[in-house]
Amino acid sequence: MTDVSPSQGGPGSGKGTQCEKLVEKYGFTHLSTGELLRQELALESERSKLIRDIMERGDLVPSGVVLELLKEAMVASLANTKGFLIEGYPREVKQGQEFGRRIRDPHLVVCMDCSADTMTNRLLQRNQSSQRGEDTAKTIAKRLEAYHRASIPVIAYYETKTQLQKVNAEGTPDQVFLQLCRAIESVF
Ligand code: AP5
Ligand code: MG
Repeated sequence: MTDVSPSQGGPGSGKGTQCEKLVEKYGFTHLSTGELLRQELALESERSKLIRDIMERGDLVPSGVVLELLKEAMVASLANTKGFLIEGYPREVKQGQEFGRRIRDPHLVVCMDCSADTMTNRLLQRNQSSQRGEDTAKTIAKRLEAYHRASIPVIAYYETKTQLQKVNAEGTPDQVFLQLCRAIESVF
């Protein structure tokens, strides 16, 4: 089984868009920690009380909560998966270390390189048509800041541990997708 993690890409770099296309082509099981957290919020569970404020501020949810949700989702699909495509995780070195210890290191980590201006414009545009409560100018700035702070150490961590590939995420969805397919096929 293969694990691919397009984790390194800021908010709006196109992680979700590309994961959908990759699932269609390769049949991976796509898990997004952001989506898992939003599903948890909708349940109004005990866990959701803890995470709502954090997400609305654009901060990172505590790593133990995220890993618990991710592990539950992976276990639920384990019997019928061709491999996992994990979006938006790990976002800090601590998450990567915990994942490696409790599950395993991913076979490939993909980093979606995109400028802050492009990411901000895409999210502001999405905000006009979607229900993603965290897509406000203030939260976008906070998420970008959190991403830039954490991404360099995470990339450095994986550079020595596993295959790490960078793609230019500024182009059209099809241009970015071609680069991702090349990255995946160079490894598997
Ligand atoms: P999450 O849901 O993961 O959000 P994010 O990382 O901020 O990124 P997005 O999902 O908004 O963007 P994306 O890169 O997937 O881009 P998309 O394809 O949607 O996380 C939300 C929050 O949850 C975090 O802030 C944090 O609080 C918490 N969280 C999540 N994971 C966590 C973790 N591991 N640890 C702790 N906390 C965690 O595209 C965006 C828009 O751009 C769309 O409208 C799309 O149509 C458009 N677009 C995409 N690609 C292109 C393109 N090539 N050209 C033009 N437009 C494009
Ligand atoms: Mg996403």
